[in-house]
Amino acid sequence: MRRIHPDIEDDPDLVAAYAQPPGEWLRINMVSSADGGAWLKGLSGGLSSEGDRRIFGILRGLSDVILAGAATVRTEGYGPARPRESWRALRAGRPPAPPVAVVTRRLDLDLGSPLFTETEPYARTIVITTESAPADRRAEAAKNADVIVAGEYRVDLTLAARELRDRGLAAILCEGGPRLNAQLAAAGLVDELCLTLSPLLIGGDAARILNGTASQTRLGLAQVLQEEGFLFCRYVREVSDELAG
Ligand SMILES: NC(=O)c1ccc[n+]([C@@H]2O[C@H](COP(=O)([O-])OP(=O)(O)OC[C@H]3O[C@@H](n4cnc5c(N)ncnc54)[C@H](OP(=O)(O)O)[C@@H]3O)[C@@H](O)[C@H]2O)c1
Repeated sequence: MRRIHPDIEDDPDLVAAYAQPPGEWLRINMVSSADGGAWLKGLSGGLSSEGDRRIFGILRGLSDVILAGAATVRTEGYGPARPRESWRALRAGRPPAPPVAVVTRRLDLDLGSPLFTETEPYARTIVITTESAPADRRAEAAKNADVIVAGEYRVDLTLAARELRDRGLAAILCEGGPRLNAQLAAAGLVDELCLTLSPLLIGGDAARILNGTASQTRLGLAQVLQEEGFLFCRYVREVSDELAG
Protein backbone atom coordinates (compact mmCIF):
# COMPACT_ATOMS: atom_id res chain seq x y z
CA MET A 1 0.00 0.00 0.00
CA ARG A 2 1.31 3.45 -0.91
CA ARG A 3 -0.04 6.87 -0.01
CA ILE A 4 0.09 9.18 -3.03
CA HIS A 5 -1.85 12.14 -1.62
CA PRO A 6 -1.43 14.45 0.29
CA ASP A 7 2.14 13.13 0.57
CA ILE A 8 3.97 10.04 -0.57
CA GLU A 9 4.60 7.26 1.91
CA ASP A 10 5.06 3.53 1.46
CA ASP A 11 3.23 1.19 3.83
CA PRO A 12 1.42 3.93 5.76
CA ASP A 13 -0.09 3.07 9.12
CA LEU A 14 -3.67 2.38 8.00
CA VAL A 15 -5.23 2.95 11.42
CA ALA A 16 -3.67 6.42 11.56
CA ALA A 17 -4.55 7.00 7.89
CA TYR A 18 -8.24 6.47 8.66
CA ALA A 19 -8.37 8.17 12.07
CA GLN A 20 -11.52 10.22 12.39
CA PRO A 21 -12.33 13.23 14.55
CA PRO A 22 -13.60 12.32 18.02
CA GLY A 23 -17.35 12.57 18.57
CA GLU A 24 -20.14 12.50 16.02
CA TRP A 25 -19.01 11.47 12.57
CA LEU A 26 -20.66 9.58 9.75
CA ARG A 27 -18.55 7.98 7.08
CA ILE A 28 -19.72 5.97 4.12
CA ASN A 29 -17.46 3.21 2.86
CA MET A 30 -18.05 1.94 -0.68
CA VAL A 31 -16.27 0.27 -3.56
CA SER A 32 -17.00 1.23 -7.16
CA SER A 33 -15.88 0.03 -10.58
CA ALA A 34 -13.89 2.52 -12.67
CA ASP A 35 -17.09 3.26 -14.61
CA GLY A 36 -19.05 3.94 -11.43
CA GLY A 37 -20.94 0.70 -10.78
CA ALA A 38 -21.63 -0.30 -7.18
CA TRP A 39 -22.02 -4.02 -7.74
CA LEU A 40 -20.91 -6.83 -10.01
CA LYS A 41 -23.31 -9.72 -10.51
CA GLY A 42 -25.40 -8.26 -7.69
CA LEU A 43 -22.61 -8.15 -5.10
CA SER A 44 -19.79 -5.80 -4.12
CA GLY A 45 -17.23 -8.61 -3.66
CA GLY A 46 -16.21 -8.79 -7.34
CA LEU A 47 -15.11 -5.15 -7.19
CA SER A 48 -13.03 -5.55 -4.04
CA SER A 49 -9.40 -6.44 -3.36
CA GLU A 50 -7.26 -7.62 -0.50
CA GLY A 51 -6.36 -4.00 0.30
CA ASP A 52 -10.03 -2.99 0.17
CA ARG A 53 -10.90 -5.73 2.64
CA ARG A 54 -8.09 -4.59 4.96
CA ILE A 55 -9.41 -1.04 4.97
CA PHE A 56 -12.99 -2.33 5.33
CA GLY A 57 -11.89 -4.12 8.53
CA ILE A 58 -10.07 -1.10 9.91
CA LEU A 59 -13.06 1.17 9.29
CA ARG A 60 -15.24 -1.30 11.15
CA GLY A 61 -12.77 -1.40 14.02
CA LEU A 62 -12.79 2.39 14.23
CA SER A 63 -16.58 2.66 14.26
CA ASP A 64 -19.12 2.64 17.07
CA VAL A 65 -21.87 1.19 14.86
CA ILE A 66 -22.13 -0.25 11.34
CA LEU A 67 -25.18 1.05 9.48
CA ALA A 68 -26.59 -0.79 6.45
CA GLY A 69 -29.74 -0.85 4.35
CA ALA A 70 -31.85 -3.99 4.49
CA ALA A 71 -31.16 -4.89 0.85
CA THR A 72 -27.42 -4.89 1.54
CA VAL A 73 -27.93 -7.02 4.63
CA ARG A 74 -30.05 -9.48 2.64
CA THR A 75 -27.90 -9.72 -0.51
CA GLU A 76 -24.50 -9.61 1.16
CA GLY A 77 -25.62 -12.03 3.91
CA TYR A 78 -24.60 -9.85 6.85
CA GLY A 79 -23.64 -11.44 10.15
CA PRO A 80 -22.44 -9.73 13.33
CA ALA A 81 -19.03 -8.02 13.28
CA ARG A 82 -16.72 -10.35 15.22
CA PRO A 83 -13.99 -8.90 17.46
CA ARG A 84 -10.51 -9.02 15.90
CA GLU A 85 -7.20 -9.16 17.66
CA SER A 86 -6.07 -6.19 15.54
CA TRP A 87 -8.94 -4.09 16.94
CA ARG A 88 -7.88 -4.48 20.55
CA ALA A 89 -5.84 -1.27 20.75
CA LEU A 90 -8.03 0.86 18.54
CA ARG A 91 -11.17 -0.11 20.48
CA ALA A 92 -9.67 0.47 23.95
CA GLY A 93 -12.42 1.76 26.23
CA ARG A 94 -15.16 0.57 23.87
CA PRO A 95 -16.90 -2.79 23.33
CA PRO A 96 -14.73 -5.32 21.43
CA ALA A 97 -16.87 -5.03 18.28
CA PRO A 98 -19.47 -2.60 16.94
CA PRO A 99 -23.12 -3.63 16.49
CA VAL A 100 -24.77 -3.70 13.07
CA ALA A 101 -27.78 -1.39 12.62
CA VAL A 102 -30.17 -2.29 9.80
CA VAL A 103 -32.52 0.25 8.23
CA THR A 104 -35.76 -1.38 7.09
CA ARG A 105 -39.41 -0.62 6.62
CA ARG A 106 -40.70 -4.08 5.72
CA LEU A 107 -38.61 -5.98 8.27
CA ASP A 108 -38.17 -8.73 5.72
CA LEU A 109 -35.04 -10.00 7.47
CA ASP A 110 -33.98 -13.50 8.44
CA LEU A 111 -34.49 -13.09 12.16
CA GLY A 112 -33.17 -16.62 12.76
CA SER A 113 -29.80 -15.84 11.14
CA PRO A 114 -26.54 -15.28 13.07
CA LEU A 115 -26.98 -11.50 12.66
CA PHE A 116 -29.70 -11.83 15.29
CA THR A 117 -28.99 -15.07 17.12
CA GLU A 118 -25.20 -14.95 17.47
CA THR A 119 -24.56 -11.44 18.76
CA GLU A 120 -22.82 -10.62 22.00
CA PRO A 121 -24.76 -8.63 24.62
CA TYR A 122 -22.51 -5.62 24.02
CA ALA A 123 -23.25 -5.58 20.29
CA ARG A 124 -26.85 -6.67 19.81
CA THR A 125 -28.03 -5.95 16.30
CA ILE A 126 -30.13 -2.81 16.01
CA VAL A 127 -33.16 -2.68 13.72
CA ILE A 128 -34.19 0.82 12.70
CA THR A 129 -37.72 0.82 11.38
CA THR A 130 -41.00 2.71 11.12
CA GLU A 131 -44.31 2.88 12.93
CA SER A 132 -45.93 1.35 9.83
CA ALA A 133 -43.71 -1.76 9.90
CA PRO A 134 -45.69 -4.97 10.51
CA ALA A 135 -46.31 -5.16 14.28
CA ASP A 136 -45.74 -8.93 14.44
CA ARG A 137 -42.34 -8.57 12.73
CA ARG A 138 -41.39 -5.75 15.07
CA ALA A 139 -42.25 -7.90 18.07
CA GLU A 140 -40.32 -10.84 16.59
CA ALA A 141 -37.28 -8.67 15.87
CA ALA A 142 -37.33 -7.26 19.42
CA LYS A 143 -36.64 -10.75 20.81
CA ASN A 144 -33.04 -10.73 19.56
CA ALA A 145 -32.42 -7.14 18.52
CA ASP A 146 -32.81 -3.59 19.78
CA VAL A 147 -35.58 -1.96 17.78
CA ILE A 148 -35.56 1.76 17.10
CA VAL A 149 -38.71 3.29 15.61
CA ALA A 150 -37.83 6.48 13.75
CA GLY A 151 -40.53 7.79 11.43
CA GLU A 152 -44.00 6.79 10.32
CA TYR A 153 -43.69 5.38 6.78
CA ARG A 154 -39.98 5.84 6.09
CA VAL A 155 -37.11 5.89 8.52
CA ASP A 156 -36.23 9.50 9.24
CA LEU A 157 -32.45 9.18 9.04
CA THR A 158 -31.75 12.36 10.99
CA LEU A 159 -33.84 10.98 13.83
CA ALA A 160 -32.22 7.56 13.45
CA ALA A 161 -28.72 9.05 13.70
CA ARG A 162 -29.82 10.98 16.79
CA GLU A 163 -31.16 7.78 18.37
CA LEU A 164 -27.88 5.96 17.71
CA ARG A 165 -25.89 8.82 19.18
CA ASP A 166 -28.15 8.95 22.24
CA ARG A 167 -27.03 5.34 22.78
CA GLY A 168 -23.40 6.49 22.77
CA LEU A 169 -22.79 5.38 19.16
CA ALA A 170 -21.22 8.58 17.84
CA ALA A 171 -19.02 7.24 15.04
CA ILE A 172 -21.35 5.77 12.42
CA LEU A 173 -19.91 3.72 9.56
CA CYS A 174 -22.42 3.29 6.74
CA GLU A 175 -21.63 0.37 4.43
CA GLY A 176 -24.41 1.19 1.96
CA GLY A 177 -26.18 0.35 -0.10
CA PRO A 178 -26.65 3.09 -2.65
CA ARG A 179 -30.31 3.77 -1.81
CA LEU A 180 -29.49 4.34 1.87
CA ASN A 181 -26.42 6.42 0.96
CA ALA A 182 -28.48 8.78 -1.23
CA GLN A 183 -30.87 9.50 1.62
CA LEU A 184 -28.06 10.09 4.11
CA ALA A 185 -26.47 12.59 1.74
CA ALA A 186 -29.81 14.31 1.07
CA ALA A 187 -30.31 14.65 4.83
CA GLY A 188 -26.88 16.32 5.12
CA LEU A 189 -25.59 13.57 7.37
CA VAL A 190 -22.48 12.48 5.44
CA ASP A 191 -19.19 13.73 6.88
CA GLU A 192 -16.89 11.47 4.88
CA LEU A 193 -16.78 9.10 1.94
CA CYS A 194 -14.21 6.32 1.83
CA LEU A 195 -14.26 5.18 -1.78
CA THR A 196 -12.33 2.30 -3.27
CA LEU A 197 -12.03 2.65 -7.02
CA SER A 198 -11.58 -0.71 -8.69
CA PRO A 199 -9.63 -0.89 -11.99
CA LEU A 200 -12.51 -2.56 -13.78
CA LEU A 201 -15.07 -1.55 -16.40
CA ILE A 202 -18.36 -3.37 -15.99
CA GLY A 203 -21.06 -1.57 -17.97
CA GLY A 204 -24.49 -3.00 -17.25
CA ASP A 205 -27.02 -1.39 -14.98
CA ALA A 206 -25.40 -1.43 -11.54
CA ALA A 207 -26.37 1.67 -9.57
CA ARG A 208 -23.83 4.33 -8.66
CA ILE A 209 -22.82 4.46 -5.01
CA LEU A 210 -25.64 6.93 -4.36
CA ASN A 211 -28.96 5.94 -5.90
CA GLY A 212 -32.14 7.94 -5.44
CA THR A 213 -32.80 11.37 -4.05
CA ALA A 214 -30.67 14.06 -5.72
CA SER A 215 -28.50 16.23 -3.50
CA GLN A 216 -25.15 17.99 -3.49
CA THR A 217 -22.45 17.57 -0.86
CA ARG A 218 -19.17 19.34 -1.53
CA LEU A 219 -16.18 17.16 -0.66
CA GLY A 220 -12.47 17.76 -0.24
CA LEU A 221 -9.98 15.06 -1.23
CA ALA A 222 -8.21 14.28 2.04
CA GLN A 223 -6.16 11.22 1.07
CA VAL A 224 -5.43 8.74 -1.69
CA LEU A 225 -3.77 5.37 -1.19
CA GLN A 226 -2.91 3.00 -3.99
CA GLU A 227 -2.30 -0.74 -4.26
CA GLU A 228 -2.43 -3.11 -7.23
CA GLY A 229 -4.21 -0.56 -9.42
CA PHE A 230 -6.87 0.13 -6.81
CA LEU A 231 -7.30 3.67 -5.46
CA PHE A 232 -8.50 4.21 -1.90
CA CYS A 233 -9.84 7.75 -1.57
CA ARG A 234 -10.93 9.61 1.54
CA TYR A 235 -13.22 12.54 0.86
CA VAL A 236 -14.26 14.76 3.75
CA ARG A 237 -17.20 17.14 3.60
CA GLU A 238 -16.15 20.72 3.11
CA VAL A 239 -17.53 23.22 5.58
CA SER A 240 -19.97 25.37 3.59
CA ASP A 241 -19.29 29.03 2.87
CA GLU A 242 -22.02 30.09 5.28
CA LEU A 243 -20.59 27.98 8.07
CA ALA A 244 -17.03 29.09 7.32
CA GLY A 245 -18.06 32.74 7.06
N1 LIG B 1 -20.18 -1.29 -3.79
C1 LIG B 1 -20.36 -1.33 -2.50
O1 LIG B 1 -19.48 -0.94 -1.73
C2 LIG B 1 -21.68 -1.84 -1.94
C3 LIG B 1 -21.95 -1.65 -0.58
C4 LIG B 1 -23.18 -2.08 -0.11
C5 LIG B 1 -24.08 -2.69 -0.97
N2 LIG B 1 -23.77 -2.87 -2.26
C6 LIG B 1 -24.72 -3.48 -3.19
O2 LIG B 1 -25.87 -2.65 -3.24
C7 LIG B 1 -27.04 -3.45 -3.41
C8 LIG B 1 -28.03 -3.09 -2.32
O3 LIG B 1 -28.17 -1.71 -2.23
P1 LIG B 1 -29.54 -0.94 -2.50
O4 LIG B 1 -29.21 0.46 -2.78
O5 LIG B 1 -30.35 -1.70 -3.49
O6 LIG B 1 -30.30 -1.07 -1.12
P2 LIG B 1 -29.91 -0.65 0.39
O7 LIG B 1 -29.68 0.80 0.46
O8 LIG B 1 -28.88 -1.58 0.93
O9 LIG B 1 -31.26 -1.05 1.13
C9 LIG B 1 -32.49 -0.53 0.69
C10 LIG B 1 -33.51 -1.02 1.69
O10 LIG B 1 -33.23 -0.42 2.96
C11 LIG B 1 -34.43 -0.06 3.58
N3 LIG B 1 -34.48 1.40 3.62
C12 LIG B 1 -33.65 2.28 3.03
N4 LIG B 1 -34.01 3.52 3.35
C13 LIG B 1 -35.08 3.42 4.15
C14 LIG B 1 -35.92 4.36 4.83
N5 LIG B 1 -35.70 5.69 4.75
N6 LIG B 1 -36.95 3.90 5.57
C15 LIG B 1 -37.17 2.57 5.68
N7 LIG B 1 -36.41 1.63 5.09
C16 LIG B 1 -35.40 2.06 4.32
C17 LIG B 1 -35.56 -0.66 2.76
O11 LIG B 1 -35.66 -1.98 3.29
P3 LIG B 1 -36.97 -2.90 3.30
O12 LIG B 1 -37.11 -3.31 1.89
O13 LIG B 1 -36.59 -4.02 4.22
O14 LIG B 1 -38.09 -2.07 3.81
C18 LIG B 1 -34.95 -0.67 1.37
O15 LIG B 1 -35.54 -1.64 0.53
C19 LIG B 1 -26.59 -4.88 -3.36
O16 LIG B 1 -26.45 -5.34 -4.68
C20 LIG B 1 -25.24 -4.81 -2.69
O17 LIG B 1 -24.41 -5.87 -3.09
C21 LIG B 1 -22.58 -2.44 -2.78
